[in-house]
Amino acid sequence: MGRLQKILIPSLGLVLAFWFYSARDTFKPEMLRGKRVIVTGASTGIGEQMAYHLARMGAHVLLTARTGARLRNVSERMGFPGKDRAAEPRCLQVVQRCLELGAASARFVSGTMEDTAFAQHVVREAQASLGGLDMLILNHVGASYFGFFDGDVEHVRKLLEINFLSYVAMTTSALPMLKESEGSIVVVSSMAGKVGFPFTVPYSATKFALDGFFSSLRQEFAIQSINVSITLCILGFIDTERAVRAAAEVLLERPAPRDECALEILKGAALRRRELYYRYSSTRLPLLLRDCAAELLDYLVRSRYRLPATPGGPRPQH
Ligand SMILES: *[C@@H]1O[C@H](CO)[C@@H](O)[C@H](O)[C@H]1NC(C)=O
Repeated sequence: MGRLQKILIPSLGLVLAFWFYSARDTFKPEMLRGKRVIVTGASTGIGEQMAYHLARMGAHVLLTARTGARLRNVSERMGFPGKDRAAEPRCLQVVQRCLELGAASARFVSGTMEDTAFAQHVVREAQASLGGLDMLILNHVGASYFGFFDGDVEHVRKLLEINFLSYVAMTTSALPMLKESEGSIVVVSSMAGKVGFPFTVPYSATKFALDGFFSSLRQEFAIQSINVSITLCILGFIDTERAVRAAAEVLLERPAPRDECALEILKGAALRRRELYYRYSSTRLPLLLRDCAAELLDYLVRSRYRLPATPGGPRPQH
């Protein structure tokens, strides 16, 4: 028994180490050259950085970004540079930069993800302008608050529309093209989609929903031999403007850089990984506790917050 353990444990370690490193080191930027990629929520944050990385790798990028309510009917038109003066200049800058960085092509569509017709619209644009699709990167999120759950059910409903149902709609619309290209779906989620987080109750609920939908869909793809990969990305605290504005004062943790995060997501996607954890040490490792010591994990999550003295908790930040 003792001797068996002496052999078994180190060899298990070796196998794991080999698997760990071999799975990580085979990415090459050429894997994404010429690929036709949709990135949603690409005007800022991680989405913007993914667009730039894809551009450097020579991909075709079709970006989406939200428009203000007054621009709602803009979603009927393509936001080509110069053509659509009403669209946010921010998107134009991102598209321009993608072209400078070497994108095979770059364009954007603006509209609101609250409208499920928008999903079909974006996917039709990919069909019309790129002739197909290799990768669908679902990254956008709606604005929410940071603070104790305020009982606003309508807000939860709206957030589910944007953070969850629009992902379902985009996937459904894009699936025929992705099946044809044996492509990939990339779902940007969060630690808050794997373990309960305080102060982001509606957001956390929408991220858990994504895990349920896409993990089940992956099972069905396996049963039906549909060769479309689904990569669920579990991200920790990243230095996006939105996350830093909401949580920097209360989180006792340094945010990880968004451009590195974006690159890791693309690597995981190109390697058709099932899940991607970034940063590994603050996501995958704590999650190992989830099944054997859930209360300890809950405690560790709570201990990352500098809790305010006021009984109301952190000020809601919209
Ligand atoms: C699935 O698609 C990928 C990308 O085209 C390909 O490399 C892989 O061999 C395919 N797998 C199967 C089982 O067909």
